[in-house]
Amino acid sequence: MTSTTDLAVVVLAAGQGTRMRSRTPKILHTVGGRPLVGHVLDTAAALDPARIVVVVRHERERVAETVAELAPGVVIVDQDEVPGTGRAVEAALGALEDFKGDVLVLSGDVPLLQAHTLTDLVAAHRAGGTAVTLLTAHVDDPQGYGRIIRDDTDGVRRIVEQKDATADEAAVREINVGVYVFQVSPLRDHLARVGTANAQGEKYLTDVVALLRDAQLGVAASVTPDAGAALGVNDRIQLSEAGRTLNERTVRHWQREGVTVVDPATTWIDVTAVLAPDVTILPNTHVRGATVVAAGATIGPDTSLVDCEVGEDATITRTDATLAVVAAGATVGPFAYLRPNARVGVGGKVGTFVEVKNSSIGEGSKVPHLSYIGDTEIGRGVNLGAGAITANYDDIAKHRTVIGDEVHSGSHNVFVAPVTIGDGAKTGAGAVIRKDVPAGALALSVAPQRNIEGWVEKNRPGTAAADAAARARDEQEARDGS
Ligand code: UD1
Ligand code: CA
Repeated sequence: MTSTTDLAVVVLAAGQGTRMRSRTPKILHTVGGRPLVGHVLDTAAALDPARIVVVVRHERERVAETVAELAPGVVIVDQDEVPGTGRAVEAALGALEDFKGDVLVLSGDVPLLQAHTLTDLVAAHRAGGTAVTLLTAHVDDPQGYGRIIRDDTDGVRRIVEQKDATADEAAVREINVGVYVFQVSPLRDHLARVGTANAQGEKYLTDVVALLRDAQLGVAASVTPDAGAALGVNDRIQLSEAGRTLNERTVRHWQREGVTVVDPATTWIDVTAVLAPDVTILPNTHVRGATVVAAGATIGPDTSLVDCEVGEDATITRTDATLAVVAAGATVGPFAYLRPNARVGVGGKVGTFVEVKNSSIGEGSKVPHLSYIGDTEIGRGVNLGAGAITANYDDIAKHRTVIGDEVHSGSHNVFVAPVTIGDGAKTGAGAVIRKDVPAGALALSVAPQRNIEGWVEKNRPGTAAADAAARARDEQEARDGS
C-alpha cells in the first residue's frame, strides 16, 4: 500500500469501559493474544497514514505505555475531564493543527475491522467529496449501538444513541460502527458546536453528523458487508464473541496456507503465531504468543504452546509448554510440562509425566518417563531411566547437572546438583548420585541387598503372607525331595 500523506488516523482509547467491570481498561483486554487497541493500531498502521493519534485518559499511564510499546511513533494526546467521543476527537485535533487532509476516526474497542474495509471507506469518501463518510452495518441485534436515522431519500439524517432513542428509533437495525472519515476543517468547525445535552451528559462525536448535514456539507454512509467485523466490545460477552470471530478468521487463514486444523472450534491460534504448511493441529489446542511451528509437525490434542519453537516433523501430545524449543523430529508427551528454556534436541524425546525447565536435552536423547529435569545439560544419545530427578535446589541456590553423551542411567535416580556425569557412564537403579561420575564408570550408591531367609514365617505367623511362604516352602521341598 502506498503512503497516504493526506490521511491521519485518530484512535479513541480514553474511555473507561464501565460495562467490562474490570480493573483492566477495556481496550487492554486481549483477543487473539493482543490487546483490543493493538488490533486497531495494526489496522491503522496497515493504511500507512501520515500520522496516527491515540487519545487517552482513563488509566492514562498504563494505556499510554502499552500503546507506545505496540506502536512506537504514534502521537499520544490527553483528553480532558469533558467526557465523550466528540471531546476525544477534539483533543486529537489539537495535535493535528497543521494537518489539511482527511481524518479517519477509529474506536479502540472495535478490533476486528480489516484494513481493506477502511481503505475502501477512505476511497468512497474521496470519490464522494462529502464532509464525512461513515461506516454502518445491518445487524440482527442493534442493542447498545448508535442507530442510523435516514430521511425519505435514504440519506443519513443523524445518529441517535441507544440511550437517547425513541422506541421507533431503537427498532432500527442499521448501526453506527464508530468509524468515520472526515474532512478536517468542517470536522473542527462543527465539533466545537456539539453540546452535552443528552442522556449520558457526554459530548458525542455522532452529533457532528447532523450538524454537517444541516450545514449542507454532505454526509455519506458506506454499509459494510462484513457486519461481524463491526462488533464493538463493551462487555465480557462481546469480548468472547470478538475472540471467537477473530479466531475463526485466523484458523481459516492457516488452513488456506496448508495447515490441517481438525477442529476449528477448539483450536485457538493467536494472531502472532506462525505455522508452516503440513502442520497438523489436533483438537483442543492453543497456539499462543510468538510460537512458530515448522512443516510436518503435529500438535495436540489437548496442548498449549506459548512462545515456543517447534521443528519439522516434531510431535507434541497433551503437553503444556512455554518458551520451549523442540527440535526437528523430537517427540514430547503425552502429559509433559516444558517450562521456559526447555530445549529438546533433534530426534529427542520427553515422555510421559516429565517436567523440564531451563535444560537442554541433546540430539537423540530420551527422558521417557516420570522425571523432573531442571538446570541440566544432557548430551547426545542419552537415556535416563524412569523416575530421574535432578535435585537442582538446595534451599539456597539452584545448581546445574551436566550429563555427557551416551549416558544411560538406571531407574529412579536422583542427581544431586552440582554434579557431572562423564560420557558413556552408567548408573545403577535407585542411585543417588552426589559425586561426579567419571566417563565410562558404573556408579552404584545403593547398599547390597541382603535376604533374611524364613523371616516372614518366623515373624508374621498366621498371616496370609506366612501361609503363602509356607506353601512355597512345601512345594520347593517336594521338588527337592523328588
Ligand atoms: C459509540 C458510538 C455509537 C457506536 C458505537 C460503535 C458515540 C457517542 N457513540 O458508542 O454510536 O454505535 O460506538 O461501537 O460515539 N472514548 C474516548 N473518550 C471518551 C469516551 C469514549 O476516547 O470520553 C473511546 C472509548 O475508549 C472507546 C470509543 O471511544 O474506544 C467508544 O466509546 P464507548 O463508550 O464504547 O462508545 P459506545 O457507547 O460504544
Ligand atoms: Ca463501544
